[in-house]
Amino acid sequence: MKKRYAFLTAAVLTATLGVQTAAHAQLEVTKTTQPRSPDVIYVPTPPAVVEAMLDVAKVGKDDVLYDLGSGDGRIPVTAAKKFGTTGIGFDLDPQRIKEANANAKEQGVTDKVKFVEGDLFEQDLSKATVISLYLLPSLNLKLRPKLLALKPGTRIVSHAFDMGDWKPDQTLTVEGKSVYFWTVPQK
Ligand SMILES: C[S@@+](CC[C@H](N)C(=O)[O-])C[C@H]1O[C@@H](n2cnc3c(N)ncnc32)[C@H](O)[C@@H]1O
Repeated sequence: MKKRYAFLTAAVLTATLGVQTAAHAQLEVTKTTQPRSPDVIYVPTPPAVVEAMLDVAKVGKDDVLYDLGSGDGRIPVTAAKKFGTTGIGFDLDPQRIKEANANAKEQGVTDKVKFVEGDLFEQDLSKATVISLYLLPSLNLKLRPKLLALKPGTRIVSHAFDMGDWKPDQTLTVEGKSVYFWTVPQK
């Protein structure tokens, strides 16, 4: 009887541990594969503000525009369509990347723009001649050292938010929205 009891206890313990180990493994998988959530929600820039951002940055066909947090891709897509600019958009949200690719296709600029699912803070920005942003004040400040380290002359344009004490070369107001423009200075 004692033997049987010991056997049953061992069986229950093994099963419990097995379940716990499986649950732990599940937790590990969840932890490592869970995608990072965006630092700011998606709010699209109105078309007139997009136009003003591209105009103030004097975007042209020889430029390479990086949109950091590209949403539905409207900034690179408009630049490609209007000026023949090459562009890359980065966004953490796969749904936004889908929309941006569909937008590029609809506007016939898939040869000019591409969209990459990834964290804007982890990208190599050294090939950009123009960078566009519509993020948050804190995110602009977090990016600032990386932007200031880019090639002198790189242009940066931000919808709505400034860069703290890095004073813009120009500030515009379009349909009640602010647009800030900077040029990376000589070192
Ligand atoms: C305010 S929306 C701007 C969209 C677009 N640039 C525009 O002006 O219409 C910000 C976008 O940044 C994306 N985002 C937020 N944090 C991000 C991060 N760390 N890396 C890449 N994209 C991010 C969001 O998914 C969202 O699509």
